[in-house]
Amino acid sequence: MKDLTLIVDLKDHIGKSVRMGGWVYHLRSSGKLRFLVLRDGTGYVQAVISKKDVPEEVWTLAETLTYESSVVLEGTAVEDPRSPGSVELQLKGLELIHLSPEYPIQPKEHGTEFLMDHRHLWLRSKRQTAILRVRDEICKSIRDFYYDRGFTLIDSPILTPTSCEGASTLFEVKYFDELAYLTQSGQLYIEPACMALGKVYCFGPTFRAEKSKTRRHLTEFWMVEPEVAFADLEDLLVLAQDFVAYIVGRVLERRKEELKHLERDLSKLERITTPFIRMTYEEAADFLLRPENQARMKEAEAPLFTRGNDFGGFDETLLTQDAERPVMVTHYPADIKAFYMQPDEQDPSKAKCVDMLAPEGYGEIIGGSQRIHDHDLLLQRIQKCGLPVEPLQWYLDIRKYGSVPHSGFGMGIERCVAWICGLPHVRETIPYARMLNRLNP
Ligand code: 4AD
Ligand code: MG
Repeated sequence: MKDLTLIVDLKDHIGKSVRMGGWVYHLRSSGKLRFLVLRDGTGYVQAVISKKDVPEEVWTLAETLTYESSVVLEGTAVEDPRSPGSVELQLKGLELIHLSPEYPIQPKEHGTEFLMDHRHLWLRSKRQTAILRVRDEICKSIRDFYYDRGFTLIDSPILTPTSCEGASTLFEVKYFDELAYLTQSGQLYIEPACMALGKVYCFGPTFRAEKSKTRRHLTEFWMVEPEVAFADLEDLLVLAQDFVAYIVGRVLERRKEELKHLERDLSKLERITTPFIRMTYEEAADFLLRPENQARMKEAEAPLFTRGNDFGGFDETLLTQDAERPVMVTHYPADIKAFYMQPDEQDPSKAKCVDMLAPEGYGEIIGGSQRIHDHDLLLQRIQKCGLPVEPLQWYLDIRKYGSVPHSGFGMGIERCVAWICGLPHVRETIPYARMLNRLNP
């Protein structure tokens, strides 16, 4: 409806007559006055309905309105006398588009499962729209970052014949007479593309049949994965920190109001500047093996960390809870990492890899590495990891024709949104979360 004015534009219409479409967000009456807060997706505005100024039928209709009913309001935009700079509407006309029966989500405390069951409606809340706008800003800033730096977007397939990140979390799909899997990562497909275009990235949904019920795991999540020819681990660390600092800066620049609504401590985000903190796996292990940290693991009934193993969620929390900037942990034991990671030249038992852990205990947001570029070494690693060679023959091919060192990483969007918004769980960071026990709505 082209003659409707959006709430975000209302300040340009002061003194003028406007028509506005939206949903009833709040209602209150006081004698011969009714106050209606309208929301239209661009903002919230209060309309004042005065019995003496509107026709009888408008007043009567206003009395029947319910939360989340859809309406078109007509009135004059005026500056709110009690709060200069903000605009309200003096109502003249009211058209009911659709009357809602009692709205399931009330302004009281609801349990998380109830809200997740009503996710299709919960999306309308102020908190959820704030999170979705921050997510949108993060996604836009990701695309801008790579576009501005000369990367080409490569869309990787969703249906794949092989695993990239371990067979235990594959979702199987019937593919005519064969089996296919939902992609766990686009990496195997953008490595060849970086040999064609130099700097590339993919950005899309990825899937993992995670049996774990944690605040960091989804079964469907979005991942952005850059891949750069001729880049080594050092280049990758610089790219990763510049990237994350850029995203945080963009959200602070353009979505401060939303962060404030989420009660995010902005000073913590303002401290996210490069260089980030670096430590090796061995240094991180030394820290976790300190008696006071082992005691904290016991106290929290978290699994006790032992050297040589991967970090658990609690270990990552311990490593970052006092850090002001993200921590980049490098050189994990090659045995606990993926088959494609380049071994370190000085100590081949370590992989040239990085996990970036977000501060304040948010845990891993990025995982990446330099890739093995030697054909025979890669073949050996594939065999040692017990992976079938045949379906990876094309991937090995890349190491036959002008192979060069190259590196890349993946960042999970939802974990990044959770950290930047300060949310305790990833379930609110994606419009429709998919988890071990949730496929609806
Ligand atoms: O560390 P991961 O498994 O790395 C890869 O998939 C590489 N192939 C990426 C690459 O080098 N191109 O996953 C990367 C990131 C993690 O750091 C985390 O942020 C996110 O993806 N992630 C998840 N997010 C939500 N739910 C899950 N189940 C996730 N698994 C990984
Ligand atoms: Mg990882």
